[in-house]
Amino acid sequence: MRIYVTKDYAEMSRKAANIISAQIILKPDSILGLATGSTPVGIYDQLVEWYGKGDLDFSETVTVNLDEYKGLGPDSPQSYVFYMHKYLFDRVNIKPGNTHLPDGLNDDPEGACREYNELLQSLGEQDLQLLGIGRNGHIGFNEPDNIFDQDVHCVSLTNSTIEANKRFFEAGEEVPKFAYTMGIRSILRSKKILVVASGEDKADAVRNAFFGPVTPLVPASILQLHDDVILVADKAAYSKCSEYREPSPA
Ligand code: GLP
Repeated sequence: MRIYVTKDYAEMSRKAANIISAQIILKPDSILGLATGSTPVGIYDQLVEWYGKGDLDFSETVTVNLDEYKGLGPDSPQSYVFYMHKYLFDRVNIKPGNTHLPDGLNDDPEGACREYNELLQSLGEQDLQLLGIGRNGHIGFNEPDNIFDQDVHCVSLTNSTIEANKRFFEAGEEVPKFAYTMGIRSILRSKKILVVASGEDKADAVRNAFFGPVTPLVPASILQLHDDVILVADKAAYSKCSEYREPSPA
């Protein structure tokens, strides 16, 4: 595992965007696994800026997102499909047909998950998967559990995740209680995995994920078993790990 520790969120975003842009430049038809949440916003802004300067071309890039809320679609500002259009897809020259997310409007969990699993199989493995990390160590929407769920599945969100994600919803608006998410096998298939974390409230999750035991109670801990993981964390998010390992030189 390669670990970069940056001074702040802006530097974390630039470093992670650099890694993604290198991937696109080296292999323009890369399959990128993408993530949502507040952490990747700065990464997408940076990629859009470089696209604007003519340094990046998304015309052949294919994307697959990690997850989507069950019940939300492109017209809901809180859906992940809306988020992806707002922060990336509508600002670069990616072909709409090359972007994929689970279908939150499909009411039938089994059908929705089967469809997304089949799509992932047909596209082949991700070249690079971007991941944020939840405060409880979740990745995508793989919540702490007694087992690692393998493929795309429907999850019942934990109270802590519902609470954490309330900030994206209007007061009084219900945060969905279910989501469709790539499972652990769908994530680990990626050739390369890029994890980003920022802020002190992620410090426990980062320590437990990368320096604690591998356990489904901390879903991100499974990443220790993948042989090409890059962690880009800012100082605050890495603050509880310095005693375990020195970061790689920048
Ligand atoms: C959500 C998403 C995850 C994301 C996590 C952390 O629950 N499903 O993919 O990594 O929250 O989000 P944030 O970056 O806003 O802290």
